[in-house]
Amino acid sequence: MDSGKAFYAGLLEALTSVMGSAKGYLHEHGPRVGMLATQLGAEMGLGRSDRSALVFAAVLSDMGMVGLAEDAWENPVAQLPDDVKARVRQHPERSESRVSEIPHLERLAPLVRHHHEWWDGSGYPDALSDSDIPIGALILRIADTVTALGADRPHRSALGKPEIADIVRAGVGKEFGPEVAEKFLALDRAEEIPEFTHAAYRHTVLRAAEHLLPEEVSPISTDQLLVIVANLIDAKDPYTGGHSRRVAVLAVAVADQMGLEGHLKSQLWSVGYLHDLGKLAVPLRVLAKNGKLTEEEFAYIRAHPGDGAEILGRIPTLEDLTTGVRYHHERWDGKGYPEGLSGERIPLVAQIMAVCDSYDAMTSKRAYRDSLGPEFARDEVAREAGTQFGPRVAEAFLEIGKDIFEGLNGTRPMSLSELPQRVQTLRHIDPRWFTSQAIETG
Ligand SMILES: [Fe+2]
Ligand SMILES: [Fe+2]
Ligand SMILES: [Fe+2]
Repeated sequence: MDSGKAFYAGLLEALTSVMGSAKGYLHEHGPRVGMLATQLGAEMGLGRSDRSALVFAAVLSDMGMVGLAEDAWENPVAQLPDDVKARVRQHPERSESRVSEIPHLERLAPLVRHHHEWWDGSGYPDALSDSDIPIGALILRIADTVTALGADRPHRSALGKPEIADIVRAGVGKEFGPEVAEKFLALDRAEEIPEFTHAAYRHTVLRAAEHLLPEEVSPISTDQLLVIVANLIDAKDPYTGGHSRRVAVLAVAVADQMGLEGHLKSQLWSVGYLHDLGKLAVPLRVLAKNGKLTEEEFAYIRAHPGDGAEILGRIPTLEDLTTGVRYHHERWDGKGYPEGLSGERIPLVAQIMAVCDSYDAMTSKRAYRDSLGPEFARDEVAREAGTQFGPRVAEAFLEIGKDIFEGLNGTRPMSLSELPQRVQTLRHIDPRWFTSQAIETG
């Protein structure tokens, strides 16, 4: 595989695995749906490309739930308050709009949009019925329900195979398309549905990526995907819109001040976008809480750097991003997390992340306070040099040009010269793509 393509496929894998990384009852839901859907797709005679699209559609079909109503599944649907129900019903369209922006995965969009349509026309968002529903969406519907029934939920425990088969039989012609349901029941009866394994899933995702992606993937597509993942991370926390991108821009600016080489700058660029990847696994009720966190809630927060690093560490092409992600909350004085490293034992990339991340946190509005303002934040970086922050890095941060900070809040397009080497080599790209506006709404 071409190296650009391998990096891109790695990012897609990270996105799919983070969508399956929610703790507890949603753990690996998407990947399990994906495996069952591919198997059903083969039974229904779908070709390679359609099956490849199915795997990704299965895992990404609930992308729209992020920041919308993720905690809804803690209760039975019938018991949800009306406003939550209404929000849940919006998720296929939100997923569709997020998925349709992912380069090379555009064909997933209709599957994702229709994954909650019912055969009898009582589904959403378009109340399509029988053969108007794309086959892939019918497959996703049954794979999703069957997988959910087979997992523990806070309000009930996992159902056994016979109970699930009864529910499927009762849902034929209602929730489920008759042919797809028949295929499922036949496989189930013959005990031909294999146990879910990571290895098989990973293999399936990589083959699917190989099949859907072109021979060469441009760095511009890669950056677009980084932005999409970052927007998804930021969408979890209503107060951090654009946070990941600003951290990436600042980190590269610090690297410039320190005279670091090109590959480190590229690394910082990607790490900036992905540093909070593990936040996608933190329950919304914790992130959005307006008040003091309990020990249990704070444990989720402390876990996010390690969770993010673990996801990236499983993907060979993204492995060198793990250090910056894992240690971005360490402090120079050793009072940070997750490991309490101190001084120069904290990798440089992570020291840079820490300063840029804190600066952006201070200058952003939070659930519990307003922005502290750029002046206060800069003073704080100076004051905390040698306690919270690495002194060399803090010094470099304070030397970043004014124009970079002005560019951060989206008042002015970023010039290409501000972007890392990897991106700079692409002179033919449309510079408007890099306006912060395009990125914020992207
Ligand atoms: Fe869904
Ligand atoms: Fe973080
Ligand atoms: Fe952050």
